[in-house]
Amino acid sequence: MNNITKTFGSKVVFRNLNIEIEQGKFITIVGKSGIGKSTLLGIIGSFEKVSDGKIIFEDREIKKPDKNRIMIFQSFDQLMPWKTVRENIEFPLKHLDIEGLDIENILIELDLKDVENHYPYQLSGGMKQRVAIGRSIITKPRMLLMDEPFGSLDVGTRYNLQRLLMHVWDAYKMTVVFVTHDVNEAVVLGNDIWILNENEILQIANPIMKPRDISDVNFQIFVRELVQKIK
Ligand SMILES: Nc1ncnc2c1ncn2[C@@H]1O[C@H](COP(=O)(O)OP(=O)(O)OP(=O)(O)O)[C@@H](O)[C@H]1O
Ligand SMILES: [Mg+2]
Repeated sequence: MNNITKTFGSKVVFRNLNIEIEQGKFITIVGKSGIGKSTLLGIIGSFEKVSDGKIIFEDREIKKPDKNRIMIFQSFDQLMPWKTVRENIEFPLKHLDIEGLDIENILIELDLKDVENHYPYQLSGGMKQRVAIGRSIITKPRMLLMDEPFGSLDVGTRYNLQRLLMHVWDAYKMTVVFVTHDVNEAVVLGNDIWILNENEILQIANPIMKPRDISDVNFQIFVRELVQKIK
């Protein structure tokens, strides 16, 4: 992002922001409510227009959304209610008529094989988010943009989905930018943790080795340090 300024009317969300995201990284973003996390994801995905500045993706300036940058939201209502699990996941491939990942592998890896013929109303929230992840990765996007995707899940389901997402990231090598309110989650998942404050982004490398254990004392010390930096 080169010199990005983003305003909504008189409200300035970003002024002359410069950031770079390295290919293949898993970046987590934390920051207080209303600071601009969703706006930042929207700008990266080209869903939000910038007021000034340029977005460069793999050496090209980009202005419109495309299949290389896919967004996953918190809401469980991202699926098409009239299509089954399998049809929802396959939809982007059929729609774009491109070659993607193997649907059978995705169903197995996301533990959805048993419910492949179910409709969204028959699924739990965690299952729906797994379908949303499957649908997002089937076209082999270069980048996944995730806006608090596990925000309204119970602790156990959330933990499982974190593990699953790490596995998917490892297996398919896409870049992930993941917004969360949960600093523990940010540390479990991120190579780098970005703290969004007013007019600054702190980029902090994650010093905690994998597998990251939330009950480990160093983990908790690091989380405390991060929390103190959120203004
Ligand atoms: N479409 C819009 N029109 C006007 N103002 C907007 C619009 N979208 C966002 N804003 C404002 O921009 C700022 C950043 O909003 P954003 O949604 O990016 O925050 P956030 O960090 O994602 O917050 P949260 O953690 O609550 O999701 C807020 O002040 C918000 O009111
Ligand atoms: Mg938001």
